[in-house]
Amino acid sequence: MAGRGGATGGYTDGHRHTRAGESSAVLTERAPAKVNLFLAVGSRRSDGYHDLLTLFETVPLYDEVRVTIRPGAGPGWVFRASATAPSIAPRLTLPTGLDNLAGRAAERFVAAMLETASFSGPPATIEVSITKRIPVAAGLGGGSSDAAAVFRALQGYYGNPLGKEALAGVAAGLGADVAFFLHTGRAVGRSRGEKIEPVPAGPPLPLVLGLPAFALRTPDVYRRLDLLRPTGPGAGLPGWERPERDLAVLLRSLSSGRLSGVAAQLRNDLQEAALSLRPELAEALKALRRSGCLAALVSGSGPSIFGLAPTLEQARETARVVSGRLPAGLGGELEFVPLLSRPDPLAALGELH
Ligand code: C5P
Repeated sequence: MAGRGGATGGYTDGHRHTRAGESSAVLTERAPAKVNLFLAVGSRRSDGYHDLLTLFETVPLYDEVRVTIRPGAGPGWVFRASATAPSIAPRLTLPTGLDNLAGRAAERFVAAMLETASFSGPPATIEVSITKRIPVAAGLGGGSSDAAAVFRALQGYYGNPLGKEALAGVAAGLGADVAFFLHTGRAVGRSRGEKIEPVPAGPPLPLVLGLPAFALRTPDVYRRLDLLRPTGPGAGLPGWERPERDLAVLLRSLSSGRLSGVAAQLRNDLQEAALSLRPELAEALKALRRSGCLAALVSGSGPSIFGLAPTLEQARETARVVSGRLPAGLGGELEFVPLLSRPDPLAALGELH
């Protein structure tokens, strides 16, 4: 029997449960990717993170996250996680168990639930298995989105034991991007990126995503940025004094659908650092621009890239021709996908059920 699982579009193939946490269930959630349309990076803080002002945009490229819950199956709470590699993937071993962010999400969720709710059910074995389509370590937020999908599934199964704030706190503790994926759509992120303010959806954007077969580790990219930046007393951060104003201009262009205005305001302060680690990406950005995109940018810490096209038709055409315009050596390393960013994919999913 299929019924609605989480609050945001999951579905359940399992036994209906009468009391939260007492019968087995298999819940499936779709976990979308994101790109950053704007990413201003401030100074390194004492906790090692950097202050950010960013604009997240959800894109319809999904991992499938399956959460199986078997109450009373183990000696106590047991958490397992595994993932299958996406079709385009760097040669990385995908982490399993509590090394996988989604496995850790299950563990942290249960710890918070046991602390804050009057939960009286039996301990369960919780198994997360992920079919990856979002490239890993690519700047598309796949791991963070998988973790948020686990939260949605467990909130649905256990009857929303965590309030909004408690859940946002657990999400922020897991990683800077996880809180965004509890909202999805289009949202501004501040502080480490975990303070989220949803933005009303304007028209969706025609994009060409460049999915990489190689990885960049986020901490390496931030470290490179610190090295590239001017140091010493009085050495300001270029552009950091007015990112709020620039973001406001971008948001106005987005809500009116003026794509030339959007193109002019796209920004990623991590791009220079990502390009200095993978210089050939600069050629790929040029190829996107030469193939009809109004602008092209690295997404987050990279190495995935995206181009903003004037129309979806043009995005399709660009995706078709751009590979032929890449320098030799980059050819098989990037796969281009045309799509319309879908600012509220989970709400849209809900309509399907
Ligand atoms: O929180 P998350 O695990 O996604 O962050 C990975 C790494 O990226 C951090 O350990 C840090 O080195 C860097 N980072 C940062 N500032 C942010 C977000 C991430 O320096 N706002």
